[in-house]
Amino acid sequence: MNHLYAPATVWDTYHAAQVTVDVELNPQGWWVPSLLPFLVTAQVQKVLDVGCGTGGDAVTLAQKGYHVTGMDYSNIALARARAKAAAAGVVVDFRHGDMALSFPFVDDAFDAVLSNVALHMFDDQTTRRIVGEMRRVVRPGGLLLLHVNSTEDMPYRSQRLGRLRVQELEPNFYREANGQTIHFFSEDYCRDVLADWATTWLCIAMSEAHLLLPIPTILLAPVKWSVTMLPVVSMVR
Ligand SMILES: C[S@@+](CC[C@H](N)C(=O)[O-])C[C@H]1O[C@@H](n2cnc3c(N)ncnc32)[C@H](O)[C@@H]1O
Repeated sequence: MNHLYAPATVWDTYHAAQVTVDVELNPQGWWVPSLLPFLVTAQVQKVLDVGCGTGGDAVTLAQKGYHVTGMDYSNIALARARAKAAAAGVVVDFRHGDMALSFPFVDDAFDAVLSNVALHMFDDQTTRRIVGEMRRVVRPGGLLLLHVNSTEDMPYRSQRLGRLRVQELEPNFYREANGQTIHFFSEDYCRDVLADWATTWLCIAMSEAHLLLPIPTILLAPVKWSVTMLPVVSMVR
């Protein structure tokens, strides 16, 4: 089937290249510290990590006692994630799945859904469908926690990653030279996509703490992620 968004092969290639050089985007739960206060306040126990990649956040949350399910459609990422959970001695339910399709979970199955740097890969229609599925599987009063690329990142991304935007597929949605698709979210777009949720906080300051993390691409970046990322927390119903 022809999708507007990058197929799993693009992400398998990405993750395989990282295996080759023994690096990971997010080895150790990079985003967890910024999420924890929200998880604690909402008395979250069961968490779904959508686009969990190599499981850094999922395993870290499991180590803190959360019941975590992680979903990704790269089998290479999932293999690393499962190995990481085994090495850490924790149980995480890692599932293979395309988030653009129906989620394989019943309604209200989770207290919180999180998705870090993974929801911003899709065209508008698909993005809204995914957010709808996220809403369906979160219980009343549960949370959605996101980090998405903001429109502020557009001038910097190709400079930082060396990936050119080669095709504009929709406004603020591009296919890049390596086949990856990327959707830059404006604040207005974020609020529009999340209009059905009871409350939405755009927590720009939330990612300040990540600036000093030892991830080479970030340290070399000429911009602050507090500007280029849009951390979002929404509460359902
Ligand atoms: C930039 S990585 C972020 C991974 C992880 N959240 C982290 O912080 O390391 C984006 C992840 O989304 C996954 N992904 C992309 N499109 C997907 C889709 N349609 N369904 C499921 N996972 C997808 C990729 O395989 C990749 O692991």
